[in-house]
Amino acid sequence: MKAIVLERLDKDASLELSETALPVIGPGEVLIQTKAIGINPVDYKTLEDFTTPEGLRASWAPALDGISPLILGSDIAGIVTAVGSEVTKFKVGDAVFGMIKMPGHGRVYAEYVAAPAIHLAKKPDNITFNEAAAATLAAITAWQNVNTHYVVKKGDRVLVTAPAGGVGHYAIQMAKEKGAYVIGLTNAANADWVRHIGADEIIDYNNFDFEQADSLQLNLVLDSGGRYPASLYEKHFAPGAALFHLPHPLKPADMAYYQSKGFDVRYTGVFSEEKAIDAIALLLESGKVKSYIDSVFAFNEMKAALTAMKQGTTKGKIVVEVSN
Ligand SMILES: NC(=O)c1ccc[n+]([C@@H]2O[C@H](COP(=O)([O-])OP(=O)(O)OC[C@H]3O[C@@H](n4cnc5c(N)ncnc54)[C@H](OP(=O)(O)O)[C@@H]3O)[C@@H](O)[C@H]2O)c1
Repeated sequence: MKAIVLERLDKDASLELSETALPVIGPGEVLIQTKAIGINPVDYKTLEDFTTPEGLRASWAPALDGISPLILGSDIAGIVTAVGSEVTKFKVGDAVFGMIKMPGHGRVYAEYVAAPAIHLAKKPDNITFNEAAAATLAAITAWQNVNTHYVVKKGDRVLVTAPAGGVGHYAIQMAKEKGAYVIGLTNAANADWVRHIGADEIIDYNNFDFEQADSLQLNLVLDSGGRYPASLYEKHFAPGAALFHLPHPLKPADMAYYQSKGFDVRYTGVFSEEKAIDAIALLLESGKVKSYIDSVFAFNEMKAALTAMKQGTTKGKIVVEVSN
């Protein structure tokens, strides 16, 4: 099969399209013929050997050390072509989607992928493989932050930063679906689109004085973009508020400071979880949540797809199609 491999985790290594052996499945795994791959900033950050002490490398990239060659990627939609002896959830021919082995080595930039059955859900019939591959890492991140790390309740005031991005656009829809009043913090160019996907209010960060404005009384800040420090939001917290910062872990002293004031301010890291992907399948099937596809690239255009994502101007998700 063809796969996009990386000889080592090093900023000077490059992605190469190569012939590699078909993966071997374990008893709890299925083999998937890939139809579409979702890409994420973590892919290019890993590729660039993101080495800051508080960064990705400190949290999950060590799991990749010493593995050669690496096959990046975690987000897949495709067709089951073989089933491990312990798998009862799927059969050959099922269309499935999910985020594989996160944190860890997903090996998804490939024509065939071995995936734990518990990381997958059936693809709803009403959505395409591209829409399913999109609704994986970014959608699970959004889901876990509004359902697990903080449980959004009807009437909560939720602020989402980078709301037009992969995570943000799912978070806006999911928080809205749970009955929250949802505010997107973004710029004028994204404002109409973020309202269109469900935000009740837009705050333009180029035109808003956080220090002078009255408190926004936020119950949850989902800080997906991380443009500003948590301290900027503090006066806008409601009692007991949570702020989850996604780009990288926060300093323990900062978290302790907020904890002493009754706030829950921390980094949250996405992880593969059966109940999350099953819940997302239901949200997609019901139409309560949609994947918005910014652009689609071919498998042999992976480098261009990652370069496009790095621009930071994506509306929704970038997807890579695999025709095999
Ligand atoms: N902790 C986790 O488990 C986890 C999971 C998923 C993603 N992440 C991280 O969360 C972030 C967002 O992921 P994503 O998939 O939503 O990415 P994305 O789709 O690329 O996000 C695009 C948005 O990012 C904002 N942005 C662009 N340049 C920026 C800059 N220099 N600084 C800050 N924000 C900028 C823009 O929004 P505005 O102009 O509106 O600010 C843009 O609309 C990434 O850092 C990613 O690595 C973490």
